[in-house]
Amino acid sequence: LTTASDRGKKAAGEKVVEYIEDGMTLGLGSGSTVYWALKKLSEKVNQGLNIRGIPSSKRTERWAEELGIPLTHYHDVQELDLAIDGADEIDANLHLIKGGGGSLVREKIVNASARQVIIIADTTKRVTQLGKTPLPIEVLPFGWEVTAKRISNLGGKIQLRKKNSQPFISDNGNYILDCQFEGIPEPAVLHKQLIQLVGVVETGLFIDLTDRVILGMDNQIQYLEK
Ligand code: A5P
Repeated sequence: LTTASDRGKKAAGEKVVEYIEDGMTLGLGSGSTVYWALKKLSEKVNQGLNIRGIPSSKRTERWAEELGIPLTHYHDVQELDLAIDGADEIDANLHLIKGGGGSLVREKIVNASARQVIIIADTTKRVTQLGKTPLPIEVLPFGWEVTAKRISNLGGKIQLRKKNSQPFISDNGNYILDCQFEGIPEPAVLHKQLIQLVGVVETGLFIDLTDRVILGMDNQIQYLEK
């Protein structure tokens, strides 16, 4: 771990495991910070901690399987005790931009189904206003050009996310548009405008879904609460 923010991600990821109690059902979020939480959690599982998790991405599902973290399905449990997840941007109201890794829809379903949500990140993710980084929006591949045009009418500069010069495909088989706005002063309003557009599946704006944030930088921990 060469940078202070990488070490901060590890510190925050390990810290959050202290909030996990025996018997809990967990939302397992996505990204490199969550990886550290999963690693620590697997140690506790090996020592006998009894938990079950629902992964919010295929990558997290693979990690959990490799680490021996027991998984479950919404077929068996509809309300989770605690969801743990990363974020791309966090503002003072604990509203988030997510979807850098492309799994925003599942992440939103998982976080919205949890009684408590804790976000883990390095301190660079804390912003005074959302929108510094492009907002990921998941759209149906069919007619994405038309959907993109509608989004740009709301002021976003749109880039179709690509991987190996082909459109990036989300875990749900959709496209992601990375939309750069000139700041997002009213995230709840923008989310409502975007979600109404036909072809938009979900936006990476996570409004009022977070209870607590654990930020790390080097081995220092900082908390944000509602
Ligand atoms: C995944 O779609 C994202 O929302 C991630 O949670 C976010 O990109 C955080 O990733 P890192 O923990 O790797 O910074």
